[in-house]
Amino acid sequence: MENELVLGDNLEIMRQLPSESIDLIYLDPPFFSNRNYEVIWGDEGEIRSFQDRWSGGIDHYIGWLKERVQEMYRLLKPTGSIFLHCDWHADAYIRVHILDKIFGAENFRNEIAWHYSGWNKQLSKHIERRHDSIFFYSKSEDSYFEYPARKWDSKEEYIQKRKQKVQVDENNREYVLSDAGGGQRVRRYLDEAMEYGVPLDDVWDIDKINNSDKVERIGYPTQKPEKLLERIIQIGSKEGDIVLDPFVGGGTTIVVADRLNRHWFGIDQSVQAVKVSELRIYNKRTLFSAPFSVKLHKYDYDTLRYKDAFAFESWIVEQYGGTSNIKQRGDFGIDGRTREGLPIQVKRSDNIGRNVIDNFRSACERFDQNLFEKNKKANQPIGVLIAFTFGKGAIEEVARLKIEQGIIIQLLQVEEIVPIAKKPKVSVTIRDLGVDEKGNREIEFTAIGESDSGIEMYSWDWDYNEVNGFKPEILLDKEGVQVRKLKPDGYVIAVRVFDNQGLEATEIIRLKVNGKIKRL
Ligand SMILES: C[S@@+](CC[C@H](N)C(=O)[O-])C[C@H]1O[C@@H](n2cnc3c(N)ncnc32)[C@H](O)[C@@H]1O
Repeated sequence: MENELVLGDNLEIMRQLPSESIDLIYLDPPFFSNRNYEVIWGDEGEIRSFQDRWSGGIDHYIGWLKERVQEMYRLLKPTGSIFLHCDWHADAYIRVHILDKIFGAENFRNEIAWHYSGWNKQLSKHIERRHDSIFFYSKSEDSYFEYPARKWDSKEEYIQKRKQKVQVDENNREYVLSDAGGGQRVRRYLDEAMEYGVPLDDVWDIDKINNSDKVERIGYPTQKPEKLLERIIQIGSKEGDIVLDPFVGGGTTIVVADRLNRHWFGIDQSVQAVKVSELRIYNKRTLFSAPFSVKLHKYDYDTLRYKDAFAFESWIVEQYGGTSNIKQRGDFGIDGRTREGLPIQVKRSDNIGRNVIDNFRSACERFDQNLFEKNKKANQPIGVLIAFTFGKGAIEEVARLKIEQGIIIQLLQVEEIVPIAKKPKVSVTIRDLGVDEKGNREIEFTAIGESDSGIEMYSWDWDYNEVNGFKPEILLDKEGVQVRKLKPDGYVIAVRVFDNQGLEATEIIRLKVNGKIKRL
């Protein structure tokens, strides 16, 4: 399975995935609260999901979530596990009415309390609520489990923690005495302690992402810390396993999974969530990172048309439901096969001419002569040719082959396989706000996007370079306005706009800042 980010309702998307294909699922669904912060992105997809959960009380919410957890259960391998993140609003209901029912109470492993610092200034009559619950269930007794112990740094660390003096037994083995309860004291051998490591319990003290964390913080309230996901992924999976997050949000799970060499699959109904996740993954990529794809509802012509040819061919064959022909590439110019086994050829161009049809006809014959003859006899297509558009010559040639030789070639335009839309436009204006005491120039950048479907967000890369591609520092800017202080120098800045469908356009601004600002 290729690493994938998918825009859509997770229920629908999960229904299309094969059973027993996932090793670990982490989900952080919107909690059952009617607070405003539950709406993070505020885009169409999220609002729809919000209304979906909110059209009834707790029963409705539980029904909404249960349906999805049922699918997750189907997707998990028998060795798989699930970690469900929730809080006091619904945790009791979720455990009893969803997890115990679907996974079985016997497969309950832990209720992890994620305890965080930070003061909420609660004035109501209750004590401070400062933990979330993460329910850990496995699908069966055979579930994969990696004990998450950290090794002691040194014997000294262990001894210090125990506040004991080291003693030596009759075999010269070092030990310390430890309380075993009820006034009993037992020997803890240092060699065993070193081997076993620091035990981890079910209360995890991990700080929330704070406002000053410039590296990790994206700027939406429910973003989870990477450290939390790191632990979960290490407990429930090994390298090469597949991790699914059906409520991926800003992509914490998949970013960590990627770093820990797991395959990943993320789903979110919000365009903003999918795009922030994509940028976050992209920002951390190196030349050695595994490829990933992003599935939207619509695609724009330019991005597809100018995509790497090889990547495009495989992608469109798969979108059509076929299998791409990676091994035999080059052989006869066949790029894949349909589900029924018919050869597929992809042309990443427009206005395909007559000669392409004739070449394809011979390629099909050479590729699998028996199949060719069989289909011809049965009046079935001998192959499928995919292109952006076909010219008049090609269409006439297909008709001629059918009438004169009884050979049927199926022509398919890319647009018939994936919906295509017009991508947005973006322009940027800059305003000089003056010079500060250090001689830096303060500049206001205003990006204005245009799209028939409406603009979702902007991202900014303050140090753009073509080789590395777009690696923005500001991932999520809903307004498109940024103020920067720039010292005298040359700058290449890129802003990317995303519309309601997730389609994008980028504008690159070259600036020279010294006595004044000069746009090159
Ligand atoms: C609490 S956030 C997840 C935050 C994430 N763990 C992180 O660290 O960034 C919940 C996410 O679920 C998404 N969501 C809500 N309903 C959904 C649905 N039916 N299908 C897919 N995603 C959904 C929301 O758009 C939101 O991004």
